[in-house]
Amino acid sequence: MEAKSDIRFTRKLIERLAKAYNVVVLTGAGISAASGIPTFRGKDGLWNKFNPQELASVDAFMRNPELVWEWYNWRRQLIRDVQPNLGHYALVDMEAYFPEFYIITQNVDNLHQLAGSRNVIELHGNIMRNKCFDCGKPYAGEIRLEKKEIPRCPECGGLIRPDVVWFGEFLPEEAIRKAQEVSTAAEVFFSIGTSSTVEPAASLPYLAKGNGAYLVEINPEETPLSSVADETLRYPADQVLPLLVIALERIRGRAKKN
Ligand code: APR
Repeated sequence: MEAKSDIRFTRKLIERLAKAYNVVVLTGAGISAASGIPTFRGKDGLWNKFNPQELASVDAFMRNPELVWEWYNWRRQLIRDVQPNLGHYALVDMEAYFPEFYIITQNVDNLHQLAGSRNVIELHGNIMRNKCFDCGKPYAGEIRLEKKEIPRCPECGGLIRPDVVWFGEFLPEEAIRKAQEVSTAAEVFFSIGTSSTVEPAASLPYLAKGNGAYLVEINPEETPLSSVADETLRYPADQVLPLLVIALERIRGRAKKN
């Protein structure tokens, strides 16, 4: 990977950003890597150490709800100990430059919200929330697994589960509808820190590009999206995004001020 000082944005991107009304960002686990949260794929990925079908699926929960809860409590503890990084905060700053700015995230770590982003569309739920496995009602109670018993829904008696999307499950209908709507309208679409392999999130950049968006990928590694993107920035998001905000200040700061 080149040094941070080599980071350059093309004139085309600057021109598009200078006049854009609607900008959309899709994020994946890579944007939280600099906060210390492991990604899923790649050399130190979680799916190299754990089997997702054993931990993040309906069958796994029905077979062994305690094990699934142990996994999610471990991940919650990990997330409770970390902070948003410069990439998250730069996206908060970017929001101020565009009348329509949305973050569509595959992450369940709540770090975009913690950093202060407002228009966050959560495609895969949020690990800090719980709901009933049977009736789906939100559950606000404490999860204390020391006693080895999983709380039950006060409404229907179903087991309580994390409010995240498991493999094989449908995404929240309103989230995917909104994500497709804003991606269709985007004039500039950033795909940041995702391996672009999990549907339906992986189709959103294509939807945006097919409707005229300028497509930018920010990822130190190549992905299936790289050959389709109009611009690829092979750097960590936490290095690129703060520099992009400086560029935005130069090209839109004047507009923002008057
Ligand atoms: N900045 C930008 N990108 C990074 C960084 C960084 N600092 N560090 C790693 N990456 C990139 C990796 O190169 C990889 O392409 O982030 C990507 C992470 O890919 P995955 O681990 O596959 O995560 P993601 O794409 O978010 O996975 C999608 O799969 O397991 C499910 O539900 C889970 O939401 C997740 C979905």
